[in-house]
Amino acid sequence: MTEGAEERITELIELVRYHDRRYHGEDAPEIPDVEYDQFKRELLELEAAHPELARPDSPTQTVGADPSTLFEPVEHRMPMMSLDNAFDRDELRAWADRAQRRLDAEDFGDLVCELKFDGLAVSLRYEGGKLVQAATRGNGRVGEDITANVLTIESVPHRLPAGAPEVLEVRGEIYLPLAAFDALNAQQEAEGKSRYANPRNTAAGSLRQKDPSITATRGLAMWCYSVGEVQGAQLATHSATLEFLESTGLPVNPETVTVDSLEAAWQFIEQCEAKRHDLPYEIDGAVIKIDRLDLQQELGSTSRAPRWAVAYKLPPEEQTTTLLDIHVSIGGKGKATPFAVLDPVFVGGSTVAMATLHNEDQVRAKDVRPGDTVVVRKAGDVIPEVLGPVLADRPDDLVEWEFPSVCPCPHREPLIREEGDAAHYCRFPRCPEQLRGWIEHFAARNALDIEHLGEQRVRLFIDLGLITDVADIYTLDYDRIREQEGFGDLSVANLAAAIEASKEQTLARLMVGLNIRHLGDTTSELLADAFGHLDRIMAATVEELAEVDGIGPIMAESVYEFFQSEANREIVGKLRTAELNFAQEIGSDTAAEALPQTLEGKTIVVTGGLEGYSRDGVGAAIKARGGKSPGSVSSKTTALVVGENPGASKLDKAEKLGIPVLDEGQFEQLLETGVIS
Ligand code: IVH
Repeated sequence: MTEGAEERITELIELVRYHDRRYHGEDAPEIPDVEYDQFKRELLELEAAHPELARPDSPTQTVGADPSTLFEPVEHRMPMMSLDNAFDRDELRAWADRAQRRLDAEDFGDLVCELKFDGLAVSLRYEGGKLVQAATRGNGRVGEDITANVLTIESVPHRLPAGAPEVLEVRGEIYLPLAAFDALNAQQEAEGKSRYANPRNTAAGSLRQKDPSITATRGLAMWCYSVGEVQGAQLATHSATLEFLESTGLPVNPETVTVDSLEAAWQFIEQCEAKRHDLPYEIDGAVIKIDRLDLQQELGSTSRAPRWAVAYKLPPEEQTTTLLDIHVSIGGKGKATPFAVLDPVFVGGSTVAMATLHNEDQVRAKDVRPGDTVVVRKAGDVIPEVLGPVLADRPDDLVEWEFPSVCPCPHREPLIREEGDAAHYCRFPRCPEQLRGWIEHFAARNALDIEHLGEQRVRLFIDLGLITDVADIYTLDYDRIREQEGFGDLSVANLAAAIEASKEQTLARLMVGLNIRHLGDTTSELLADAFGHLDRIMAATVEELAEVDGIGPIMAESVYEFFQSEANREIVGKLRTAELNFAQEIGSDTAAEALPQTLEGKTIVVTGGLEGYSRDGVGAAIKARGGKSPGSVSSKTTALVVGENPGASKLDKAEKLGIPVLDEGQFEQLLETGVIS
């Protein structure tokens, strides 16, 4: 047992040391914090269970990583410590109990609750009120001189007001606000460069630039959370220290509170968790500190962390997993979207097994390859994202992924990417992959609304050869279906009745069901209302179509082209034979006004492209239902709808303001019902 433990301890020491160096020394972490924490925790547990095996050089006894040679070394007069972690309520209580047991005082009194900022620990030394030195934490004893870089940070005063202590060493976290991170990434994208993965690493990289003028452009900021050496000021509590720092013009975080019980500290932690995404900067937890400095003194520190403080770590929003493969899915309109097939991983509150990779350019920019270990991020309700590969784990023989040249369906028709378009398309009208999407679209609630015809059944009917186009829904062989597993008389009768009922749907819904590129619900209504009959729409020229208010030239062209296709005209012919309703009563009101006002008083912002709508069409659909659709997210926004290639800033802002983020399906539901599901 001890033998196994010794080996594992050695291995864990190596691992933690290596990742310490990558994180603190090289600003290039390879694994998410959660994995690092797991290594460290296992090591701590093994060392506690086998004290005879604990080594003085273990990283559990030290802090950070040795400084690099890039900057001049700075010896800290008082060591810069790390923090012990608690991951749940019991561990928080255990920390408090341990502290209490060590103290003579009856209880430890007030607790200061702070956010745990996800950035870089630094020490600022003011002498005679002037900032004379700024240093990174380094290994806790020796850091790096980054004075020139820190002087470029706006929130760091170069001078303190008159009356400042003779010596004041302030400690805090330098971080990159999310807005600055977004702006930086927008600039990277505009210049065709790859995106920065996360604000913490970007902050670290920005701070450790050899050229301070680069640091100056990055928009770094700082929060001060403690002091080191102080000469010329008497402070009795940590809260008074923070107030004092604030009074001298140093940035102290406004979320900080002082509470009088552990229960109240726990409530602070819960609030942190709830508002994590509303903050304009990233946090990875909360820090709870005993307020009285005399008690802090009495408690002292272990070799790496004070006993009077504990960091509560919030659940991770990044994890690593294996990218098993990259598949391509074909949408109802033939769009081929690559997506990551992941070894399922629990992150950001749910298990993630798939994540869209959007298009060929995105896969290339991220340089992810099947077989890679990848970092997956899922923050709150936001759609999971593959951030990039862990290059150090990449096997030598891993080949770059190529966008498939043909559709995954058995016909293997070419996937075409047209110039100026980021997406590939399968243009084969009888592509079963496309067909599945089309049939699902045809049967959807906003189209022909055919109940009992879900995804599984559509797949089955296509596989059985019962459906080769949407019109085949109306000539299904119910005897064959009855032979299939899971189909009783009743379920077949229900399906048949639902299909029969769909024949009476309006022309506008039929138009939606036809799945014409760029045409959505509202624009289908507009056409149906303007022409009154499918035959008239089919016979219309591009110009006639474009004359309809709300129908732009691209949409008009698309409708015209759709009906020029022999295959599509054949489908319409079959629908006519099946006696679907082709007529729409032309009312005096516009179709838009006739729609139920499900979005009255609601403000819906859309980012990225939606399959079922053109850019104009989506706004028209919202307005037609009484809603507003401005171009940017604000506190008044009811929901943000996210399509393909969404804008990161809108998404981040929505995340920060706690605004619900919807996908296209949820959006459709919202249009219909006015309710966010
Ligand atoms: S106090 C001796 N307070 O977390 C106590 N640290 O995991 C020193 N951090 O090295 C730290 N927010 O870089 C403290 N409000 C906060 C913090 C904070 C973030 C960082 C800091 C520290 C690390 C430990």
